[in-house]
Parts: sequence; C-alpha cells; structure tokens
Amino acid sequence: MIENAAEAQDIRVENGMITEIGNLTEKTGEEVTDLGRKLVLPPFIESHVHLDTCLTAGDPVWNMSGTLFEGIECWSKRKEKLNEADITERVRKIVRMYASNGVQFIRTHIDVTDPSLMAMKTMIRLRDELKDIMEIQIVAFPQEGILSYPNGKELLTEAVDMGADAVGAIPHFEFTREYSVESLNFALKLAADRGKLVDVHCDEIDDEASRGLETVAARALELGLYDKVTASHTTAMHSYNNAYVLRLMRLLKMSRINFVSNPLVNTHLQGRIDTYPKRRGVTRVKELLAEGLNVSFGNDDIFDPWYPMGNGGMRDAVFLGLHVCQMMGYEDIMNSYKLITHNAARTLSVTERYGIEVNKPAGFIVLDAENYYEALTENSVVLASYKDGRKIAENIPGEGKVFSASL
Ligand code: FE2
Repeated sequence: MIENAAEAQDIRVENGMITEIGNLTEKTGEEVTDLGRKLVLPPFIESHVHLDTCLTAGDPVWNMSGTLFEGIECWSKRKEKLNEADITERVRKIVRMYASNGVQFIRTHIDVTDPSLMAMKTMIRLRDELKDIMEIQIVAFPQEGILSYPNGKELLTEAVDMGADAVGAIPHFEFTREYSVESLNFALKLAADRGKLVDVHCDEIDDEASRGLETVAARALELGLYDKVTASHTTAMHSYNNAYVLRLMRLLKMSRINFVSNPLVNTHLQGRIDTYPKRRGVTRVKELLAEGLNVSFGNDDIFDPWYPMGNGGMRDAVFLGLHVCQMMGYEDIMNSYKLITHNAARTLSVTERYGIEVNKPAGFIVLDAENYYEALTENSVVLASYKDGRKIAENIPGEGKVFSASL
C-alpha cells in the first residue's frame, strides 16, 4: 500500500527512476519483488540533528542532572578529544543507524565557532563519502554566537564558502537583543548573497521575550528567501502571549518560512527552571499547521550530553510530538508521517526529487505493517529501504511469542 492509498499498487523502477505506478504486468526478464500488502512510504527525513556531538553520552562523564547547562559542561570535557577520526567514526556509525531506520536524508548542524573549522571540514568530506546511502545537508551553525564569539562573522562566512549548504544563527544566545537582530540580518544576507538555505536555532529558550522569530520571518520576506528559510525549535513561542502570536502569525504566513520542532529534546530540556506547572517547551505545532505553515519533526540530539537516548529512528519524535502537541485526533495521527517525510522534504528543499511519483528517483521504504496507523502504534520495523532503486538497508523482524492456554 503506497502511503494512504486504498488499493495495493505496483511500482516500476528503471535505471533508478520510477517509471510507472499502478496495476502493472510483468515485462519479460523483469525482476519482481513482492512486498506483500506492506506499507510503502517515501523515505524518512531527519530535518534537525547535530552529527558532530552524537554518540558521546557518558564520555568522559554522564550528565547527572540532565540539564542543558550540565550538558555544556560535559561537552567541554568531551571537546578536548574531538578530532577528525573521532567525528568520522561516530558519523559513520550514526548514518548506518539512520539508514537502517529508513532515513535517506539528514540535515545536520555543525558547530563553526571553532577557529580550525575542523568539524565542518570533516563533515563536508563525509557528506561526499556517504552520498550513496544518505543525502546530507550541512548547516554552518555558530553555537556560541555570530557577534558574541570572536571572529564569528568571518568563521561563519568561511564555513559557508567552504561548502555548507545552509547558514545558521542562534539569536537567543547572543549577548544582547541588538546583537541578536544584527546576527540574523548578517546570516540571512549572507545566505541571500551566496544562494544558500537558512536554518536558525531560533528562540530555544523559555523566555517569552525572546523574539528572534519575527526578525527571521521579516528578513525572509524582504530578501525574497521565503521557504528557503527554516526556524528550528522556536520554543519561546510556547510561552508567547496569544495577542502577540495573533499578530506574528500574519507575518509568518507572508514569509512562508518552515519550522522544525524537536519534541524529544525540547520536552526534556525546556521548563527546567519552572516549578509547577511546568511548561512543555514545544512550539505551537498544531496552530502553525492549522495556519498552513510547514512543520517537520527532528531528533536534534542523539545520545549526547544533552539527550541521553535516541537510536537514529524518526518514529519516537512523531509519537511523543503527537502526545505533547495534543494532536491525537484520527486525522492528525494519519497525517503525522508527513512530519518526517513530505514536510521535512519541503524544509530541506528537496521536493523535486522526493516522493513516490513517476519521473522521480526510486526512493521508498517498506514498513512491517499494512497501514500507517499500525506502523506508528506498533513501532513497526523498516523491512527495506530503497534509494535510487537500490536496496540500501533491510531488517528482519523478530518473532515474539506468548505462552498461554487461553490465547
Ligand atoms: Fe539543535
């Protein structure tokens, strides 16, 4: 069954491209794979992760409080061991995990507040080396700020000219509100000048006065960048007053920017200085979608000092996100795969070559379920992942047994 189609269909693949979909008759000499009545979806997309920090939890110390600030302390210890071989080994491992979970596209943020830009250089090399299995997009991410870090503007520009796909920013971390606005003006202008995408770590804080988002949207509109721009996190929006959101929403719709929410990490890290009630710290996903804005879900961190879990799968982000955003109506559930497929493809700006359609590259995954509802609730494994018509991963489901005379 392809996505939510009512009838089972065949997919013809020739030279890595989809050439026909429907009730097809086998041609002589054609290789046929019977997928049964299993669910076929376009490949999953990770629209927000930090590959340079992944798989480092507990090395050399565990985050005992689980807070963002202790995470930063742990990372400063781990950072001493950071080198090209270390990043290469971890990225190769996590890409393998993602591939086995049906992911074929990843947008990674790579820290460029480092005078050597070592992680960026390494990631650019890996983007090329791993392209047969994964399409990786790299955001030049100024973790410690553009104006608040020595030579921040120069380092960001150098990373972009080195080959980053997108320009990042972190307005809520800059020293002052003025720096915050200037950093966004700089980042979006740089992207416009160089023809790059934009993905901002935007207002990832519980401070209701953090208003980077309006500047991102205004510049996206004025520079004509529109959906080339993404605002990630926007957790402060959770705490904005409703009158402000009402005004903001008009600008957001005019700007047509994308949003990425990371429900696993933001429910875990936000609201930490609240007593009770505690804020959830996830942006207004349901309301943004209802206004026709594009939202996707990401993991953000995988087994690192800021998030001690994660397996390279996308299902858990969707599963938790639906709960925390109170999107448990039947239609919400049935459409939620789009948060890690079609919506994420719009965020990554890859829609021309994405989707199970004739004349597009043959990229799709087969889940061990007959429909999406079952796949989500039962956490079904990805039986096979095809990229450009080639099988790049498969999983063989285990057989569970229950011993009872009455069943
Ligand atoms: Fe992030």
